Amino acid sequence: MEESGDEQLRTYCMEILRHYDLPEGIIAHSVKVAYIAEFVASRLRASGCPVNISNVVAGALLHDVGKSKVHRRQKAVNHAEASAEIVTQEGLEELAPVVSSHILDAIISENDPPLTWEQKIVFYADKIVTHKLVSLEERFSDLSERRGDIKHLLDAAYKPTKALEADVLGSAGISWGDLESHWARFAEK
Ligand SMILES: [Fe+2]
Repeated sequence: MEESGDEQLRTYCMEILRHYDLPEGIIAHSVKVAYIAEFVASRLRASGCPVNISNVVAGALLHDVGKSKVHRRQKAVNHAEASAEIVTQEGLEELAPVVSSHILDAIISENDPPLTWEQKIVFYADKIVTHKLVSLEERFSDLSERRGDIKHLLDAAYKPTKALEADVLGSAGISWGDLESHWARFAEK
């Protein structure tokens, strides 16, 4: 049987999302990101990679908690850092690096790129899940149509994100088709 994340921790993460009054759309997105992230993490673990599945699921559930309107930012300059502030305040400091490195800026930065499996999986799952499963090609081309203001960032982040995809999927031994089949099971729920 595939190992799965910790139920108590998952419940606590859902409580945090409610407590910080996240909009339903963001909660639904986060649950879907966690669903895909857990699948990738289980397969990576089965392939012998040292990955903490519970922290992947929890990090995926809380990656966007920093978008909360009720959180007063301290040092955070973006929503990913705000997520790190919140998880730290809520006693889940081990998730701070996972949530802080999930944005596109991180993958082109020298300071906080996703390096651990937990960071890489949450970063990747967030890029391929909106309200549905989308390929990186689709996601980036959709973003470039809508977000001319971040064209420079999208251009710079595409190649390293594709490399991260190859690393994660290759190490987990999964194909895009496997992700689609797994996603179909969520869609059926
Ligand atoms: Fe997200």
